[in-house]
Amino acid sequence: MNQDTQTSHAVVAAGLGKRYGEQWALHEFDLAVPTGSVLGLLGHNGAGKTTAIRILTTLAAPTEGSATVAGHDVVTEPAAVRDQIGLTSQAATVDGLMSGLANLEMIGRLYHLPRKVAQARAQELLAELALEDAGDRLVRDYSGGMRRRLDLAASLVASPPVLFLDEPTTGLDPESRNELWDLLRQLVGGGTTLILTTQYLEEADQLADEVVLLDHGKIVATGSPAQLKARHGGERVVVTVDASEELAAAAQALERVAAGRAEIDHEELFVTAPASESTRLIEVVRALEDGGVDAHDVRRREATLDDVFFSLTSPRGTRATSPTAATPTPTDTEEAPA
Ligand SMILES: Nc1ncnc2c1ncn2[C@@H]1O[C@H](COP(=O)(O)OP(=O)(O)O)[C@@H](O)[C@H]1O
Ligand SMILES: [Mg+2]
Repeated sequence: MNQDTQTSHAVVAAGLGKRYGEQWALHEFDLAVPTGSVLGLLGHNGAGKTTAIRILTTLAAPTEGSATVAGHDVVTEPAAVRDQIGLTSQAATVDGLMSGLANLEMIGRLYHLPRKVAQARAQELLAELALEDAGDRLVRDYSGGMRRRLDLAASLVASPPVLFLDEPTTGLDPESRNELWDLLRQLVGGGTTLILTTQYLEEADQLADEVVLLDHGKIVATGSPAQLKARHGGERVVVTVDASEELAAAAQALERVAAGRAEIDHEELFVTAPASESTRLIEVVRALEDGGVDAHDVRRREATLDDVFFSLTSPRGTRATSPTAATPTPTDTEEAPA
C-alpha cells in the first residue's frame, strides 16, 4: 500500500475479503477515505456492511487483502488501530441497568482516564448529545433515540479521530434521525473522519462526501451522491396505484413504454422506470389502461439516490426500508481480541 495514501487517508483498504464457508460476505473491497471526510457505506441487509466495519475495527480478520486505519495495519497492529477509533455497532454497547452518566464514566475508566477526568468527559458528552437531563436515569428507560445518542456518546469518550457507525439511525423516528444527523455534522465539522453504514439513501445524501454501494459483498458503485445521481439519474416516470395487487401489472405496462426496467416500491405503492426524451406520459397512461391498471397518479420527476440504488442493486423490485422487517443479525462466531 502506498505510503502517501496512508497519510492523507484515514482508512485505506485493498482487495479486502471475508469468506464464511463458501460465501464471500465481502469481496475485492477497495477503499480510500480522506482524513476528515465522511464515507457512506450503503447496502441492503446482508450486503456486507457490518463485515467491512468489523474488519476495519479489528473485530474480524480478513480472509484476504489488507487495510490500514490511521496508518496502522488492522491485522498486524490491532491495538494501535483501536487507539484511534470509536465504534458504535448495531448491537447496543451500553448497560441498561446503569444510568447514562455511569455508563459513560465507566467507559472513560476503561480508557484509563483519571476518575475526575472521566466524570467531566461524561458530563460534557451528555450535554453535547442533548442527554443532560437524562444522565441520572437508567438507560433501560431511555427512548430509542436517546439510547442511540448514548451509544454514540460511548464511542466518543476517548475522542477518537476515526469514528465508525454501523446503521446509527436504523429504527429511529424521523425527528430523532434528524437530530442525530445534526450531531454527526457537528462532529465532522470538528475534523473527525466518519465511516457510516446505512440502508437509507437519504442518510448518505445528507451526510456523506463519498458513497460506496455494496451488493452481495461487492462494490457496485462509488461516487459522491451528486455524481451517482448524475451517472444513473435523469428523469423517471412514477406511477402510483391504490392497491398492491396492481403493482405488478403497472410495472409491466410501464416497462413497455419506458426506457428501462421498472422498480416496485411495495410500501409506498408506486412503480418507477427511467424516462427517455421520447417517453410521453400519455403513452404511459394508455399502456396502463391496456394493462387494466387503475393508476392513481402518473408523473415525471428527477431521479433520486433511491433510484440509483435500486437500478444497481438487488433484490430486484423490493425495498429494504422497513427497519422492523430487517433480517436478524447473524450470530457472530468471532469475538473481539481481548
Ligand atoms: N459470523 C458470520 N458467520 C456466517 N455468515 C456471516 C457472518 N457474519 C455475516 N455473515 C453473512 O455475510 C453476509 C454479509 O453480512 P453483513 O456484513 O452482516 O451484512 P450487512 O451488515 O450489510 O447487513 C450475509 O450474507 C451474512 O449472512
Ligand atoms: Mg449490518
